[in-house]
Amino acid sequence: MKIRSIAFLILLALLGVGPPAQPQLSRPDSRQDAEGHFWWQHAVVYEIYPRSYADSNGDGIGDLNGITAHLDHLKSLGIDAIWITPCFPSPQVDFGYDVADYRSIAPEYGTLSDFDRLRGEAERRGIRIILDYVINHTSDQHEWFKQSASSRENPRRDWFVWKDGKGAGQPPNNWISNFGKSAWKLDPRTNQYYYHMFYPEQPDLNWRNPEVESAMHDVLRFWFERGVAGFRLDAVDSMFEDPRLPDNPMTAGTNQFGDPNQDRSAQMLAPEMHEALRRVRKVADSYRAVLIGETWTSDIQSLNAFYGRSLDELQLPMNFLLAMVNKLDAPSFRREITAANAANGWPTYVMSNHDITRSVDRYTPEEADKSQVAKLLATLMMTLRGTPIMYYGEEIAMVNNDPKRVEDVLDPIGKLGWPKFKGRDGVRTPMQWDKFQNAGFGKGKPWLPVHPDYRTHNVETQAKDPDSVLNYHKKIIKLRRTNSTLREGSYVPLNENDAHVLAFLREYRGEKVLVAMNMSGEPRTASFSVGSTARTLVSSTKAVPKTVKLAPLKLEPFQSFIGEVRN
Ligand code: NOJ
Ligand code: CA
Repeated sequence: MKIRSIAFLILLALLGVGPPAQPQLSRPDSRQDAEGHFWWQHAVVYEIYPRSYADSNGDGIGDLNGITAHLDHLKSLGIDAIWITPCFPSPQVDFGYDVADYRSIAPEYGTLSDFDRLRGEAERRGIRIILDYVINHTSDQHEWFKQSASSRENPRRDWFVWKDGKGAGQPPNNWISNFGKSAWKLDPRTNQYYYHMFYPEQPDLNWRNPEVESAMHDVLRFWFERGVAGFRLDAVDSMFEDPRLPDNPMTAGTNQFGDPNQDRSAQMLAPEMHEALRRVRKVADSYRAVLIGETWTSDIQSLNAFYGRSLDELQLPMNFLLAMVNKLDAPSFRREITAANAANGWPTYVMSNHDITRSVDRYTPEEADKSQVAKLLATLMMTLRGTPIMYYGEEIAMVNNDPKRVEDVLDPIGKLGWPKFKGRDGVRTPMQWDKFQNAGFGKGKPWLPVHPDYRTHNVETQAKDPDSVLNYHKKIIKLRRTNSTLREGSYVPLNENDAHVLAFLREYRGEKVLVAMNMSGEPRTASFSVGSTARTLVSSTKAVPKTVKLAPLKLEPFQSFIGEVRN
C-alpha cells in the first residue's frame, strides 16, 4: 500500500471516519467505584422473554433481531443489562428451559451471528447481556441425554440420574416433580427410571459426575468468550438431590396439581451444591462476570446461604421475599427490606418475572388505579439499596392476560392445573409497542394473544404522555443513575410503626435522601424528624412544590415522594 494511502487511512482514523465499527468483544469490566462497588451493584437489570418481546420476521415468535431493533427503547429507559431467558435450541416444551444444545441459538430466535450483533449493538448503548444457565436439567432431546438413554453401558449413562424401580411399575421412590406427578419416568429401552425435577422432557443432570461439571463449565466459557457479562442460574436449589433417594415424608393437603403434599427437602439443596457453585463462580470470576440466581427461599437466612460463606458463590441470589408479600402492605415490605439490608451480600429485588402473575395485578387493590400502583412499585424498586431486576412490560404497567379456555393454554402446567392454576401464559404475552396491529409486536399472529388494553397501554402512546408509567420509570431510573446517595447510600428505615406509609432514608457522605410511599388509597400524613424540609427530586403526583415540609409530609393516595433532606 502506498504511503499516501496509509496517511489517508490514518487521517480518516483520526477524524473518526472509517468503515462501520465491528462490535468489540470487550470483557465486562471489574472496575469498582469509591465504595468498592462493581457495575452490577448499580445496574438496573431487565428481563426479556425473547419469544414475547418483538418478532422481526413475522412468524409470530419473538426473536433476537426483534430485541436488537428495540435497544433504543431500553437505552432510553436507562437500564444497564438485559437478562434473556433461554434462547437456545429447544423443543420448547418448557419454552426454552428444556435446552437441546447449550452452545447455539434456537433457529426460531435467530443465529449466533444475530446474537453477536445484538451483543455488539447493546454494548454500543452501554447495555450488557446476561443469559440463562439451565443447570439442573437438559431437554430429553439433548445429545447428552440421547446417548445416556441409549444403553446402560453408554459412557454418558451416569450424566443423568438413572435408577431401578422398586418393583414392577414402581418408581425408585415417591418423589414428585415441581410440575406435578411422579418425578421419575421409566424408559422402556433400558428398563430404568430417570429423575426429572420438572417436566419428564427435562431430565436432571448428575452434577456429581465430574464430566458433567466440566462440560457445563465449558458452556459458560463458550458464552463468556462471546462477550456475555453474566448468567442467571435457573433452579439452583434443585442442582443436587439426596443421593440416598429416601422417600419423602407426607404432609397435609394437596398441591395445585392434586398431588398429596410432601416434605420435599431431600430433592433440594444437598450440601455439594455450595462446592459446585464455588467452582462455577471461579469460572465466572476468570471472566469478571456476574452470577444471578433463581433462589426462591422462605426467609433471608436461607437466601444468605447462596452468597457463600466467603461471598464466593452467587453475587446476586434473587430475593423473592418482597414479591411474596403479594399485597401493598407497608409493615410487611418494611420487614422484608430491613431483612434484605442485613443480608450477607448485596441485595437484589424482584417483583415480577415470567413465572408469576404480573406485579400490578398482584399489588393493586380492587378499585384502585393500576398506573398509580405501578409508579409506587417502580419507586420501591429503584430507590432501595440493591440491584433491581425488572420484567419486560413493567415499564408500561402491563397486566396478565390469562387464557379463558383450557384449550387455549400453551404452558403444560396450566393444562394440568386448570382451572385452579391457569399456567404462566398470561404473564408472557407480547410486549405492547404501539396501538397498531398486534401492538407492534410483529406482522404475524403472535404466539400468545396480545392483551386487549394495548391500544392505550403501549410504549409509543405512553412515551408521549409526561405522566405515564413509562415516563415515570425513565425519570426514576435516571435519578437512581445520577444520584450517588441513591446508588451508594445506606438504608435507614423510618417511622417503623406506620401502617400505611413506607419510608426510609438513603444516607451517603452527609447527604440524605428521603423516600416515602403511601401504600394506601387514602391521603396520609407522616412526620419525619430527619430534617425540616426536603427538596423534591421526584414525585409521582403532578404538582409538587420544589421544597416540601417534612413535619408533616402530606401524601396523596399511592403517592411516592423522593426528596433531598434539608436541615
Ligand atoms: C425456573 C424458570 O424460571 C421456569 O420458567 C422453568 O419452568 C423452571 N425453572 C424449569 O427450568
Ligand atoms: Ca420471529
